Amino acid sequence: MPMSAPRILLVDDEENIRFTLREVLRREDPTYQIDEAGDGAEALEKVRSAPYSLVLMDMRMPRMDGMAAFRAMRAIRPDLIVVFITAHGTQRTAMEALQAGAYDYFTKPFDLTEVRVVVRRAVEKVNLLQQLEDMRRTQAQRYSFDRLIGQSAAMQEIFGLIERVLDNDVTVLITGESGTGKELIATAIHNHSLRRSQSLVKVNTVAIPEALLESEMFGHERGSFTGAVSQKIGKVEAADNGTLFLDEIGDMSPPLQAKLLRVLQEREIERVGSNKPISVDIRVIAATNCDLAKMVEEGEFREDLYYRLNVLPIHVPPLRKRRDDIPVLIDHFIGQYNPRLRRTISSVSDAALQKLLNYPWPGNIRELENTVQRAMLMASGTSIEVEHLPPSVRGDQPVVTQNLAPPGGDGAEAFGELDLASLLDTEDFSQSLADRLQLLGDHLEKYLIRRALQKTSGHRQETASLLGISRKSLHNKMVRYGLFSEERDRAANGD
Ligand SMILES: Nc1ncnc2c1ncn2[C@@H]1O[C@H](COP(=O)(O)OP(=O)(O)OP(=O)(O)O)[C@@H](O)[C@H]1O
Ligand SMILES: [Mg+2]
Repeated sequence: MPMSAPRILLVDDEENIRFTLREVLRREDPTYQIDEAGDGAEALEKVRSAPYSLVLMDMRMPRMDGMAAFRAMRAIRPDLIVVFITAHGTQRTAMEALQAGAYDYFTKPFDLTEVRVVVRRAVEKVNLLQQLEDMRRTQAQRYSFDRLIGQSAAMQEIFGLIERVLDNDVTVLITGESGTGKELIATAIHNHSLRRSQSLVKVNTVAIPEALLESEMFGHERGSFTGAVSQKIGKVEAADNGTLFLDEIGDMSPPLQAKLLRVLQEREIERVGSNKPISVDIRVIAATNCDLAKMVEEGEFREDLYYRLNVLPIHVPPLRKRRDDIPVLIDHFIGQYNPRLRRTISSVSDAALQKLLNYPWPGNIRELENTVQRAMLMASGTSIEVEHLPPSVRGDQPVVTQNLAPPGGDGAEAFGELDLASLLDTEDFSQSLADRLQLLGDHLEKYLIRRALQKTSGHRQETASLLGISRKSLHNKMVRYGLFSEERDRAANGD
């Protein structure tokens, strides 16, 4: 977004102070437009007559002092960012100013690094406010935010929620089925937040082997365990001053949940092999496709951690509940893949669009994206036709929904999701016997757990007993097969 350079007003009765500040700012960014005023009354006059976005102002000045000028300025321009310059030993006055809504302060005699940091932060804030203002103005015709596309009311609401968390560090919990764009939302928040110049560190604890988890998350000191040949900075520490994205939070093991809670409460970590706490300044965004509230009820997820994370919830509905996003997403993906796939697709036939609109998209936007990509590869001309769509979308093949099957299921239900043709393929043996057995076994297991859950109305202990497995093992398998999200969907659909 192009942005005009902020207009800055320097207010101090000592000319040499104004001169020093002007020099610091000019070296920081020569495009700043800088004006000066010698006291509060003159500053107020200037604020009345020109659109300043940032004021750096001394406290003690003749005619009208800093506080009085500040109050008067805020009455005319409530959005004005004001930073105070205070003499050493007058921190109390500085605190009062902060309480009254000043943005920040620095002390004189100047510590130039401090001045630079404070001014840089203030300018970032100014830019952010301007961006938000621009966005608000274009809200009516906005179909995208960062790389997120969507015109449905649900997505518009999500764009609004994202905006509300950009200029603060509120913890965000993003929930939604797989492929709905949770990670993309987390990225959008970070990219537009005040922390955007720092790192966004993504952690998916399920993907990290148990034995390495602690050191991956919190780092370790050299020699803290066999193999720790050098010091290592963990993910949480790497996110210092930036954003930590905790993916698949519902699948976190209880010990890790406890450690994470500590980090969120204390805002500090200890590397493995050290007991020296290191404080971290992080913004946390978590995501899950599980129903955490239900998991809390079931004792599968810590309640205290849930409340720490669920400060601002963003729920992303499945694509089938916001079908008006389908056409804009298709256009978006075609535009994105045309150059990459060396295609010149410019349209989708009415019949094909109808099929795409009717399909329930259990894999959500990820599945839509793959489908569009595949159709573009199949198409030889400039248009996507029905024949370029996969059989499931065309409707030639029973649609696999993630919903629980009706009672009295049969083989078709149990193995409907399985690609039986490739499992039974005796022409092409590239898929190994072990892989085939694994696939078959997984499907059988998922089917049996689902049916057992149904039989006990979801009662965990009873289900585990029925299946002859431990409760813990049932939990792990439910996570693995996405059965928690199925339950959630079922509840949401009222079946
Ligand atoms: N609103 C959207 N606009 C454009 N692309 C999207 C949108 N939502 C999702 N996508 C795309 O769909 C794919 C899946 O998105 P993402 O990885 O963010 O989903 P997720 O909810 O994190 O899924 P999972 O739970 O499986 O991790 C990505 O390629 C992403 O770019
Ligand atoms: Mg994800």
